[in-house]
Amino acid sequence: MQLRLLAGIHRIVLRGDAPELADFYPSVGGTADRSAVWPALEPVLRAHVPELRAALEVAPQTNGVGRSVALLVGLSEAVRRTGLRRVRLLEPGASAGLNLLVDHFRFEGDGWSAGPVTASFVLKGCAAPGFVPADFEVVARRGCDLDPFDGTTDEGAAHLRSFIWPHMPERDGRLVAALTTLREHPVTIDRAGAADWVREQLASSEHGSDDVLTVVWHSITRQYWPAAECASMIAAIDEARSRLPVVRVALEDPDPLPTTSTWRPQVEVDDDVIGHCTYHGPPLTLVPAH
Ligand SMILES: C[S@@+](CC[C@H](N)C(=O)[O-])C[C@H]1O[C@@H](n2cnc3c(N)ncnc32)[C@H](O)[C@@H]1O
Repeated sequence: MQLRLLAGIHRIVLRGDAPELADFYPSVGGTADRSAVWPALEPVLRAHVPELRAALEVAPQTNGVGRSVALLVGLSEAVRRTGLRRVRLLEPGASAGLNLLVDHFRFEGDGWSAGPVTASFVLKGCAAPGFVPADFEVVARRGCDLDPFDGTTDEGAAHLRSFIWPHMPERDGRLVAALTTLREHPVTIDRAGAADWVREQLASSEHGSDDVLTVVWHSITRQYWPAAECASMIAAIDEARSRLPVVRVALEDPDPLPTTSTWRPQVEVDDDVIGHCTYHGPPLTLVPAH
């Protein structure tokens, strides 16, 4: 509830309706001491009661575009393993689907780079020394989410931005750049649960040919799925393998979650772990031999 309330307040700040409170929000350039925020915050709460009550109905949802570096690395591995470079991307739990635009993003790592030099969204600090990006072409892309936001609308974009915490302006900058890309290249996100949707998409013959690699990609969403949903999606993918080339790529925590304080989410390519990065993406570390 408190996260929903804070996001509702953040939306008011982002649209410029609380200039005195904005001084405390790094996301709009504020630098004031946060511990002194209350006198500026209280009048904003009082002035926007109906809007903030409505905000309590909207569950937090982050579309973390820094996570696309894990997709790039996993996708490159999938392309190398299969020898197929034409890719159909399917993303369950996609939020607004921003990471489906991976081929429109630019990545800069230690000794390598990938993606168009003209990209609006440039992800710096990807690290992963020794990584060699594969050459691939995304021929189709589609996602699903239980509650997708349409990032091409002002309202959808405002919701997505409001869930980036205000003291993390770098993440907000990435999101804004990726939203620009989304407006130029909209993607379809179906309102659906992960497993049934993946099964339906894999059953569809569209783009499901022998020379197109289907990549089922998901990031920081599995932890919210019922266990049966996860097992059902894996079963759907395994069943499809006899009919078409398909690889699962993910950035997720394993279950159970390791208890070490240095734990970072893992990049999975089918049953293999090929790297690790933070919950928001860079820097990425490759597991030796990948
Ligand atoms: C933390 S967000 C991550 C979004 C996106 N994958 C990313 O990495 O930016 C988790 C998303 O999973 C979605 N979600 C949760 N349970 C789901 C399910 N059973 N099926 C489909 N989507 C689900 C939520 O609505 C939310 O958008």
